[in-house]
Amino acid sequence: MENIKITVLNDDRCENELLSHSHGFSLLVETKNAKILFDVGQDNSFVKNAEKLCLSIEDIDCVVLSHGHYDYTDGLKFLKNGTKILFHPECVKWRKSKRTKKYNGIPYGKNEFETRFNVSYSKSPVFICEDICFLGEIERKTDFECKNFPSINKDNTDDTAIDDTGIAIKTTKGLIIISGCGHSGICNTINQAKKITKTNEILAFLGGFHLKEIDEQTKKTVDFLKENNVKQLYLGHCTSDKVCVYFKNKLEKSIKVEILKTGQTINF
Ligand SMILES: [Fe+2]
Repeated sequence: MENIKITVLNDDRCENELLSHSHGFSLLVETKNAKILFDVGQDNSFVKNAEKLCLSIEDIDCVVLSHGHYDYTDGLKFLKNGTKILFHPECVKWRKSKRTKKYNGIPYGKNEFETRFNVSYSKSPVFICEDICFLGEIERKTDFECKNFPSINKDNTDDTAIDDTGIAIKTTKGLIIISGCGHSGICNTINQAKKITKTNEILAFLGGFHLKEIDEQTKKTVDFLKENNVKQLYLGHCTSDKVCVYFKNKLEKSIKVEILKTGQTINF
């Protein structure tokens, strides 16, 4: 065992009636070197569930935000002042949902955010500790990803969610790569993690895939995961039920495929 423990503090899916959950995403990531919160969801579910699961989030080293959408960041309101938070600088930008026509960015203006928390912005990759790397701005190189985005900017142009990123955890069996919403593309995210860590082996990919339909992007993502010999997949949040079924049908013979649920713990 690698002594790495990942607990789903919030996801859209939940089968445990004792736990809270909402549309959003939050993970507690524990390695021998660090304890981090990866995203905080849109409410206090992550706090309540940590308490019910007897997990302390008081002693985390930092929060990593995958991007600045409300369903990943509104939970910031339930963090104590001075908490260390790491993210891409565009995470704090103003944005509005195409669907609801409402603001869907982080719950603070830049000044209030910087006053309340101990913030670190980085476009470049950052090694949080020896074995956890914040991936920074993801190079968007594939021709089948990053076609549709859920938000617009103030001038009504597409918000390409350039802040969308993830983390990679180095293990002796390969990388564990975690995405929040996958707006940068799962394949682009994997390529970035491989490049930064100079590692080609991928033990697991975990998070939101932002895949809704069985379309070209979903099919090519499956091919990419096979080609890259990814050993374990954990599908969360913005991965539709039909895409989860498709992934299981196409990959389960060669790869462990699981659908994430609130309260689930994965030990590596
Ligand atoms: Fe998002």
